[in-house]
This record gives sequence, C-alpha cells and structure tokens, in this order.
Amino acid sequence: MNIIWHKSTRQIHLCNRRISYIMYVQPNGELGQLYFGKKLHDKDDFTYLSYRGQKSHVCGEAASEDFSMELNRQEYPSFGGTDFGTPAYEISYADGSMIGKYTYVDHLIFKGKKPLPGLPATYGSEEEAMTVEITMHDELRNVYIVLSYTIFDDYPAIARSVRFINRSDNQIVLNRVLSLCMDLSDLNYEMIQFSGAWARERIPIVRKINSGITAVESRRGVSSANQNPFVILKRENTNEFVGEAIGFSFVYSGNFLAQADADTYGRLRFLMGIHPDGFKWPLSKDEEFSTPEVVMVYSDQGLNYLSQTYHKLYNKNLVRGVWKERPRPILLNNWEATFMNFTEADILKIAAKAKEAGAELFVLDDGWFGARDNDYAGLGDWVENTKKLPDGMKGLAKKINELGLEFGFWIEPEMVNPDSDLYRKHPDWSFSVPGRKPSLGRHQLVLDFSRKEVVDYIYNMLFKVIDGANIAYIKWDMNRTISECFSHEGGALKQGMIYHKYVLGVYSLYKRLITAFPDILFESCASGGARFDAGMLYYAPQAWCSDNTDAVDRLLIQTGTSYGYPVVSIGSHVSAVPNQQTGRSTPIDFRANVAYFGTFGYELDLNHISEEEFEQVKKQIMFMKENRELIQYGDFYRLITPYDNNMCAWMVVSEDKKKALFGCYVLRANVNAITARVKLCGLDPDAIYTIGNHSYFGDELMQVGVVLDARNAPGFTIGEDYKSIVLTINT
Ligand code: GLA
Repeated sequence: MNIIWHKSTRQIHLCNRRISYIMYVQPNGELGQLYFGKKLHDKDDFTYLSYRGQKSHVCGEAASEDFSMELNRQEYPSFGGTDFGTPAYEISYADGSMIGKYTYVDHLIFKGKKPLPGLPATYGSEEEAMTVEITMHDELRNVYIVLSYTIFDDYPAIARSVRFINRSDNQIVLNRVLSLCMDLSDLNYEMIQFSGAWARERIPIVRKINSGITAVESRRGVSSANQNPFVILKRENTNEFVGEAIGFSFVYSGNFLAQADADTYGRLRFLMGIHPDGFKWPLSKDEEFSTPEVVMVYSDQGLNYLSQTYHKLYNKNLVRGVWKERPRPILLNNWEATFMNFTEADILKIAAKAKEAGAELFVLDDGWFGARDNDYAGLGDWVENTKKLPDGMKGLAKKINELGLEFGFWIEPEMVNPDSDLYRKHPDWSFSVPGRKPSLGRHQLVLDFSRKEVVDYIYNMLFKVIDGANIAYIKWDMNRTISECFSHEGGALKQGMIYHKYVLGVYSLYKRLITAFPDILFESCASGGARFDAGMLYYAPQAWCSDNTDAVDRLLIQTGTSYGYPVVSIGSHVSAVPNQQTGRSTPIDFRANVAYFGTFGYELDLNHISEEEFEQVKKQIMFMKENRELIQYGDFYRLITPYDNNMCAWMVVSEDKKKALFGCYVLRANVNAITARVKLCGLDPDAIYTIGNHSYFGDELMQVGVVLDARNAPGFTIGEDYKSIVLTINT
C-alpha cells in the first residue's frame, strides 16, 4: 500500500495491490475526485479524468471552460457554492450565512490509523494501514475541515471520516456533517439496500439508480431494522460471482442517511453519514467535531468478494478484545423456553440438560431483576429479584458453573419502565417533551444517555451485579426506538445534539463495561436485529440477528445480513417448533443446518424434546465444535440466495482451501424434480476433495458442481419440504 502526493499536479493517489483512489486540488483550491476502482499504475497527472465535455452555466472564479464545480466530481462539496448537488456538509456561520468555501491547505501522510474520539472505528497497525489527512480551510470564516482517508494493505477498502475545527471567535453551528461523499463518473449503477422490519430484517432490495435521489435512512435513534446503514452500488450485471460493486458501511449505530444523487450530467454522488434531520451541533472557538467513519470496499469480482472483504476486515480490524478471531461458545438461552416466568430451579433444570447436550454457556434472559414479571415493569432497576434468584447473580452463576457451564445474562441498560424505582426517582431522566405525555414502546421509555450522570448511574448498578459474579457473557438489548428526543437537561441550543450524544453515551457505557470486564463476550440485540451495524460490532462482536428464529425465514435474514457482516457476528439459534413467530414446523436438523452459519446455540428447553431429537442435538453440538472455526472464520459464499429460489446454498472454505463445508436447503417439495447440482466456489482446482466416500477434483466441484444425489448427499431430496444437507468437503 502507498499514498503518493504528486506535487506538480497536486494529486493524491492512495493505492494497494487491488485498488486506487485518486483526488486532486482543483483550480479553485477545492478538493476534487478523479478515480476510485481497480488499481491503476501511478503517474503524475490524471487531470484528464475530470473533463466532462459539457458546458456549465456557472464556472466559478477559476473561469475556465474545463472547470466547473457543478460538472466536476467533488470530494467534499459545500452547500451554497456552484456545485448544486447534494452537499456533504452545511454550517451556519455567525452572520446567518450557510455558504462555505474550503480550499486545500496541506496534508499529512502517515502509517497506521488514528482512533476516532468516543467513536467505534476500524484500526490498523503501521503494517496494515496508511492514512492521509487533508486539511481544508475557509479563510473568511477561519474554520477548518480535515478529511481523513485510510487505505488498508490487504483489502480493497478505504475508511473515511471528517473533522471540523472552529478557530474563529464566533460560534458556528454544524447543520449537516456527512462522513463521506463519493462522486462517481457515470450513472450505470443499481443500489442494494437491506430493508425490513422487526422479525424480517435486512432483506436485500435492488433499485435502479435514476435521475434524482435514491436513499435509505433512519430517524429512529438506532440504525434500525427498517433500513441498514450498509448499502452497495453495483453494475446491472454484477452478481455474486462477477462484476463491479462498491460497498458503503457506516460504523455508527444511530440516525443515518445513505443517499445516491444522480444529476442530469451523468455524475453520481453517493453520500453517507449522520442524518441531518434533527441534528444541530454548535462549535465554539477551538472546539472540534469528528464524524463517524464510513468503510468503502471496491470489488471487481462480484458480491461474494465484496462481502468476504468486509468479513475479514471487520474480524481483524474492527472487532477488538479477547473475542477477536476466537470461535464462539455454543450457548443455550432460556428466553423462548420460559419468557419471564421462571424460578431458579427451572433455570437450573434447563441448564443441566443443556450441559448434558454438550452446550458451553447458559444465558439467563429477561426477567431476573426488579419487579420484572412482565414487560410493564422493572426496567431501570438492575438489582436481582431475590424471589427468582435467591442467591443473586453471583449465586446463580456459581450453580451454573458447578454444572460445568459458563454463565451470562441479559440487560437492557438504555431503558426505563414508568413502573420502576428509577423512574419514580428521576422522571426527568428519560426523553419526553415537557407538557406532553411521552409515547411508550413496549411500555417503556428511553433513558437520556446524552447525560453523563444517567450513564454513570446505570454503569454503577450494572457493575455491582457483574462484579464478583463469574460472568462470561452479556446480551445487551434495546427494545424500542427513540421518539420525542428531548433532553430535560439540555437547554434550547443543545437539543440538536441529543440524538448523537445519546449514541456517544451508549458507546461510552460499552467502553466502560468492556474495560472493566475485558473477558466478557458481549452480544448486542435490539428487538432482534434492529441495531445490527458496524458500530456495535466494535464493542459487541456478535449480534442477535432477529427475533424470528424460524429456520426458513432465517435463510433470508442471515443471507441478507451476510452481505455486510461476518458470519461469526450473526447470532443464530435453534428454537422449538411450531416456531413462535411463524407457526411453522421444520425438522430439527434443518433448524441446526441453518443455525450453524452463525454463532450457534439453542433457544428452547431441551427437556421438552423427544429422546431421539435430543440425541440429534448432541450430535449437532459435537459437529459445531468440530467445525466452528471453519464456519465462523472461513471464506463464506452465497452460492444460491433464497429470495427468488426454492433453494438456498451457502459454503465456507478454509484459508488454505483444504477444508470446506457446504449447506443446501430446500424450501418446498418439488415433485419429480431434476437432481440438484450446485457449483461450489473457492476450492483449489487441482486438489482432490472427498465428500463422504467419494473423491472429486476441485475443478469438477466448481465447474460441474456437487451433484446432490444419493451418492453424495444421502437423505437429501428436493421432493420434500424443508430438506437440507450440510456436507464436509476435505482434501
Ligand atoms: C427482545 C430480544 C429477545 C429477548 C427479549 C426479552 O425482544 O430480541 O431476544 O431478549 O427482548 O425481553
């Protein structure tokens, strides 16, 4: 990797073995974009890439026919100048003007990557990453903008963020501070967004880019189940295996905007960042503001390669702590088994059976604290309910440990029920508009985490429960979105800061807990997968993917999630049938075959299944223990996606290509069907692989495919509903 400054032409070229990113100082001093894509040879002058051939009405002070802010591609365009496209930022200055003009001052190239204050971000050592910070200045206003670009050595990836520094004597207000603007040179793209709702998260939707705006966003205070802060721009004929695509992943967990703006001259502008709605951030003299970062990945080998790049980059350069690159424990969670209605004896009985099956970790879900017997009460009171846990968390942890299991539990620290001691004591600690009745969601309100004292209070309560008990795991939930986001402490000028300060408060609590308890594995959750984003993965390396545990629906949800997030981050469990959300019954091997492709665990009482099924569960756990390293950290391929197909097929391959695992799923019976044949990927064409008792060359399996007949896949048939097979493929 390298970052080269061409002094004579004032061009900056970031490159590694795979990609090039080139920008330049335009004739008027503002920063322009020249190229992002597959690696190009370096040279002094790429200016010709900016020529557009059209005539603009406004040329700007450079007054050259070749140069126009409106026609040329920009790096970080302002509101109010001659660009006219969607601005990347907008600042209100003391005189009421919002018109900025930031010109190049200097730049700094260095090895490695700096952390972002208070924010999650990718990191990289001096061998892994290189950064350029470009300083832009508005002379009239004496405000600086520092654009930061990090290129990673091993990946076709660039991380970008922006810092604003006010050096003037006047207060300014940041109205809009997006993290990234990427101007592309043609409009021939489609956008893939990952959309849904509770229990149907992250289903890919492809939209053709057309003149005007194509956007997804969240104004819910969390990244949301409805739209994910990860989108892909791809060429029309790009598929899983071939073609160009660019991914944009926002390392942030709150309100966001991801917007493509196709102008009428063929310039496609893509922007991503904190949603400007409701955002106003004042900066006094010498104050700074840093945006969260966006990680861009370029692929010229289809969507699988794009996803694999995110998987590896996030596993190695975003996830941190002792759980980084470590296979995850096989757990049993009691939620769907008992809901909040349990005694300690019930819990121990469920845990003992989980141990007998071979599980490694028991997780006590909601209902252990305060007056929490249903979802009307108790949130905010993080003190053990001694009717349920007579010896507290410490006592239960000890008893579970004595059974031979690790122990973990559920929390929802950002919330309060009006029926709680915390709310009675501090009614002003939750969001609400003075003089109006606040809206409840699941009978609860959102605590004002923009206030340090609130975060401190919750931290201290949780610390007392965790400290001294032997806790291996915590599931951190967040079960309602934010509405009426008004802080009672704020004062008028601060109200535009609250959504973002809330997210910073959540990150600060995570940071304190992971620092105090570095060995604990955190799993994030938000009514299932309503906060499945790269920001959360920095603190909690896995996330409960969806409250919908139906294996058929999970094929769709987990496939969608895999586009932007590593397999090892996808919380996936086998649950009871008929499924609680869909009423559908699928065989237990089908449920496990789907749940293997994630963290794997169980969400039911194993005392309530047949002996025959229990024997199967034991084998499943053994299988996962043998294969989890490969599944969770191998190269993952979507071979057949379930959206327009009656089948789904996934595959993982070890880095050395010696081991692979292939999962194939049939949704509906297909009577008198043709024998299925699925082409595999990522194998060594010259190596000989065995499937059961049969051997094949890698090229056969990739060019011809694995034939799913009685010979290779005994028991698998597409003539029955919900049939599946997982095959191990070894050299
Ligand atoms: C949310 C989670 C569930 C469970 C419940 C507990 O819905 O997604 O997994 O923890 O809360 O109330």
